[in-house]
Amino acid sequence: MPASPTSSIFSKTSTRTMSISSSRHDVHQDETAELAERGYFNENTAPAALERHTALARAFINEHAAFGRRVVLVTSGGTTVPLEKQTVRFIDNFSAGTRGATSAEYFLEAGYAVLFLHRQFSLLPYSRHYSHATDCFLDFLHEASDGNVVANDQYREKMVKVLRQYNSAKQQNLLLTLPFTTINDYLFELRVIAQLMRPLGPNGLLYLAAAVSDFFVPPERMVEHKIQSTNAVEKQTGKGKDKSDHTPGQDEEAFDNFDSSPEVPRSKRLIVDLDPVPKFLKNLVDGWAPEGMIVSFKLETDPEILVHKAQYSLERYQHHLVIGNLLSTRKWEVVFVTPQAKNEWVRVPRHRRKNALDGIEDMVGIAAKSAEVGYKPLEMGDLAEGEPELEIESLIIPAVQALHTSHINKVEKI
Ligand code: PMT
Repeated sequence: MPASPTSSIFSKTSTRTMSISSSRHDVHQDETAELAERGYFNENTAPAALERHTALARAFINEHAAFGRRVVLVTSGGTTVPLEKQTVRFIDNFSAGTRGATSAEYFLEAGYAVLFLHRQFSLLPYSRHYSHATDCFLDFLHEASDGNVVANDQYREKMVKVLRQYNSAKQQNLLLTLPFTTINDYLFELRVIAQLMRPLGPNGLLYLAAAVSDFFVPPERMVEHKIQSTNAVEKQTGKGKDKSDHTPGQDEEAFDNFDSSPEVPRSKRLIVDLDPVPKFLKNLVDGWAPEGMIVSFKLETDPEILVHKAQYSLERYQHHLVIGNLLSTRKWEVVFVTPQAKNEWVRVPRHRRKNALDGIEDMVGIAAKSAEVGYKPLEMGDLAEGEPELEIESLIIPAVQALHTSHINKVEKI
């Protein structure tokens, strides 16, 4: 159940400074958020797996809450936007889940229990080292003379390390992986898990790295069957013909996908009409997980607006940390935007950057320059040449962990 507007405003952990005008504004924002929530979850159908996932998440969270352990919900990968109820076509995005899967490993290393809410078939902690199309696990193995399958010499050390970490997380029940596919699955799962995390109080951390679609087709506008690209069925059966919509001559036009002629009539185009997805960060902050620490990500492609958009998001939702990243440099630098501190850049030193096919290294530093005149970005100390490649998540997670410790201390003092 969502919290009432009044209770959320006076929530113990709220970081906002109250004034009469801002509280009125907050009440309005809370009411809008609550209406959006009620509307969305009433009008859309819960995913079939929700009940099972809820039971698994509840048992996992309660077990770790009993030990007083920190639990992080890591969201990861992209959400799909189906265009048909019996879905053949959907809109998707670029995210492979690298940020989420890598972060989950470093959270486990830092002693957290990790609930990993991820896009089905996207990268998973530990297996990510061997499951990507460019790192096919079969290339790491060979058949020995005795018929056993063994790791190739040059990879064995790393494989053993990864395997031990994976088995240790599994044996201690420190990692629960739950999949989603559509934007709707994601929103239902996020709400339920965030609410289940309440008993953790400030020990709960929500780390929202999933690339969530901002637009969707609402159920009342979604067609049941595969959208047709030709009117061949209509012509034979008369099915779907709406006489009021008849434009003389148009429905006689024969057209199929194999006809690439420039004569393709405008009426045969597919126009997709999407509604905005309600931004549930407000509900998350005030109602679903009011004591937990909330970290959201802000992804942009334009360096000129990244820091501004991250600051705007923090002001609007009043949570604890926004991590800004650019699509082209996300593997090498991010910016931490918090209410307490100046923006801080976390950056992988040049000679320890892993080559990323989808990155543009020359763009590193541009967003910092655009945002702050004369600001000296935080670089890691110089490291000797030849050191191994560094994953940026190995720098992000300890920094998030330190902020989480301050958050816990602050809440416990109140
Ligand atoms: O998977 P990788 O290839 O490694 O890429 C990682 C990443 C770039 C996807 C990741 O680092 C990242 O930036 N994730 C967030 C991208 C995003 O969805 O940004 P946004 O501006 O649309 O959303 C801002 C925040 O609000 C996000 O934390 C999102 O989880 C949250 N949100 C978004 C929409 C919505 N309806 N409700 C939300 O709560």
